[in-house]
Amino acid sequence: MKKKVFKTSPLPFQGQKRRFASSFVVAMNDLKSKQEVKVIVDLFGGSGLLSHLAKSIFPDAKVVYNDFDNYSERLRNIDQTNKLLSDIRKILEGYPKGTKIEHNKRSEILKRIELADKSGYVDYITLSSSLMFSAKYVVNIDELRKENFYNNVKSCDYDFNPDEYLAGLEIVHCDYRELYNQYKDMEGVIFIVDPPYLSTDTKTYGSDKYWKLRDYLDVLKVLVGANYFFFTSNKSSLIELCEWFEKNKGFSNPFNNSVLNTQNVTLNKTPGYTDMMLYKFVK
Ligand SMILES: C[S@@+](CC[C@H](N)C(=O)[O-])C[C@H]1O[C@@H](n2cnc3c(N)ncnc32)[C@H](O)[C@@H]1O
Repeated sequence: MKKKVFKTSPLPFQGQKRRFASSFVVAMNDLKSKQEVKVIVDLFGGSGLLSHLAKSIFPDAKVVYNDFDNYSERLRNIDQTNKLLSDIRKILEGYPKGTKIEHNKRSEILKRIELADKSGYVDYITLSSSLMFSAKYVVNIDELRKENFYNNVKSCDYDFNPDEYLAGLEIVHCDYRELYNQYKDMEGVIFIVDPPYLSTDTKTYGSDKYWKLRDYLDVLKVLVGANYFFFTSNKSSLIELCEWFEKNKGFSNPFNNSVLNTQNVTLNKTPGYTDMMLYKFVK
């Protein structure tokens, strides 16, 4: 039977690379025709979407998904999440979509979530995208209690099989440097490098750390002499910075001879920023 290939992560994930799914697949297929690939290491795995796509193209390669945020736990608890959302849907029956939820209904929903919080698993990120707006997220019940709710609940269940999405992936949970050190000297390795945006609020990623320029520049070390896919945006000005240092300080620019693919992102119908995928295969 033909395996299902996901073009987007099954549950909401901020920063997932769904906009690059097609170009990533094209580039990976191109690589397949040129080079032997034994191991693919997704250093900043996030939703695992790129690991999943990589495995679909290289079924015989070892694909390591660094699940730093325990996203796979969210996937594996989808039945509980669907049950909770279904109960919320019942509470909101007939309630207009996208509107603010009034006090009594809000209390009823909160009570239902508190019950789930005491007795089982609650996926607060998915819940946030069902009850809040845009990029607003909470990660626990105390934060949720402070928020207004809106009816953004999907009208049907999330329908996917976590085993199908994660099939064949080796899942690890660690700092990217540890993983890089483990694989850096191996033959036929490709690193997928998609760090958090510069100064991003990484709260939804389960950590309070902001990514500063220093952290970003540190990541460049893993690109030197490696086969890589690297993701960034023009907001970080990282590419420009590397070009300047190369020109003025003789710095060896890891992006030289890489292929650039861009996606323009609009925000509320106005030009926003440009997301970039750069890749280079050296060995
Ligand atoms: C931009 S997201 C990656 C998105 C992913 N490529 C996708 O398509 O879903 C960056 C990820 O890096 C993770 N991260 C943050 N600090 C990290 C660290 N020190 N080591 C590994 N991963 C880290 C974040 O938690 C987040 O999941």
